[in-house]
Amino acid sequence: MTEIDSFIEGLPKVELHLHIEGSLEPELMFSLAQRNKVNLPFKSIEEVRKAYNFSNLQDFLNIYYQGMGVLLTEQDFYDLTWAYIERCASNHVIHTEIFFDPQGHTERGVKFETVLNGITRALDDGKKKLGISSKVIMCFLRHLSEEDAFKTLEQALPYKDRIIGVGLDSSEKGFPPSKFERVFAKARAAGFLIVAHAGEEGPPEYVWEALDKLKVNRIDHGNRSLEDEKLVARLVRDGMALTVCPLSNLKLCVVKDMRDHPLKKMLELGLKACVNSDDPAYFGGYMNDNYKAVSNALSLTKENLLTLARNSVAASFLSNAEKEALLQQVNAYGRA
Ligand code: HPA
Ligand code: ZN
Repeated sequence: MTEIDSFIEGLPKVELHLHIEGSLEPELMFSLAQRNKVNLPFKSIEEVRKAYNFSNLQDFLNIYYQGMGVLLTEQDFYDLTWAYIERCASNHVIHTEIFFDPQGHTERGVKFETVLNGITRALDDGKKKLGISSKVIMCFLRHLSEEDAFKTLEQALPYKDRIIGVGLDSSEKGFPPSKFERVFAKARAAGFLIVAHAGEEGPPEYVWEALDKLKVNRIDHGNRSLEDEKLVARLVRDGMALTVCPLSNLKLCVVKDMRDHPLKKMLELGLKACVNSDDPAYFGGYMNDNYKAVSNALSLTKENLLTLARNSVAASFLSNAEKEALLQQVNAYGRA
């Protein structure tokens, strides 16, 4: 292993952009399908992996929504989340803030509470058994209606103590953040923090809308912000974090080649970018793989890598005291 790869492995990392349903590995998909007697359109695990060839976001989403169809019981959501937490441990991820897509489950007849209970029970075990801290963010599916998002927000209110924030994901083009301005205003008023996927495939205008209409605390992806100088200046001025996902960008053809990835440029411009895995079971790797792929392609330095790790600590939804403790860990690692 190269020196930089082993530096990455040991680096204490924070993940801020992870769809828990996107951590469903084909092996677990098959075993849950069997347990729940759900038919899958694939004969083998190899066949599943072969299907993971995407030319855009929608290509991926079609398979992603189909895959989550095996998740039915609280134990299924526990097993899914626990498997991800074990990956956090092996990737030296010390804190994670995960998304879930309640509408992807409630529209199949699975109760909101079943999903949330399974996820949070595994996260609690992650803290108790492995010392990994976590937060939960609920996302609205932007291809569905505003009314459906309002209904989902209503369902979340009784569980506010277990959900730190609200986000926006799914098909981006044609579904601008402004469509959900009123829902996010209500979520904010209820005390949720706000994030939104913007500028992954959609134009810089969607990033402006996420800032000005949804009043986000972080932008998920944000790659296409670089096409708009004024937007870059605004993001820098606000110290707005971008949760960047290198292997996702490659697999969904947001970049043609990892050497074209804008991450280094983002850092040079003073943007608060960080590295995340998005949907690791579908995109070919967890946190270490993402850091390594982008670092090797762009020849990132140890100082760049420490900056990325510090950016994710700073952009997390932890308290200032908790952030300080994690920063100390990153800084101590940098000195050692
Ligand atoms: N973009 C939008 N929606 C998503 C993604 C993504 O990368 N992953 C899961 N849902
Ligand atoms: Zn995402």
